[in-house]
Amino acid sequence: MKLLVINGPNINMLGIREKGLYGEQSYEQLLAYIRSCCKELGVEDVEFFQSNHEGAIVDAIQAAYGKKDAIVINPAAYTHTSVAILDALKSVNLPAVEVHLTDVTKRENFRQVSYAGMACLTRFCGLGFAGYREAIKYLLDYLQEEKQG
Ligand code: DQA
Repeated sequence: MKLLVINGPNINMLGIREKGLYGEQSYEQLLAYIRSCCKELGVEDVEFFQSNHEGAIVDAIQAAYGKKDAIVINPAAYTHTSVAILDALKSVNLPAVEVHLTDVTKRENFRQVSYAGMACLTRFCGLGFAGYREAIKYLLDYLQEEKQG
């Protein structure tokens, strides 16, 4: 599986931003964790993309077309606002899973809508870093099942 992992705005501030919610670990530590999960789970290739800009995330999703097999995406605040990211995910039609470090279902009303989620197979919320591992496992199983028909 060739995997693209996308993180949206302020995820690069992990370890600095709202530690009570998002924890003490940095974005670099998140990448190291995902890399080790990929190795353990036998993911052939993983690429990371983080941006604070909506259009840049749309570009990264479009660039995955024909090159990647699956997408793990934490669109961060754009989850709740971005029809452009939803449309980009629909456009490339790659299997995608949504991840949130926190349990957005237990947070503010404005976090209860997920546009990106409408183009995702499933979501993992509130598991911290482990949500990315669950998403990768889910996509590996999904692609395996697809192959078997
Ligand atoms: C987040 C949840 C979003 O509501 C928030 O805007 C974020 C991070 C999460 O990982 O829990 O920036 O996506």
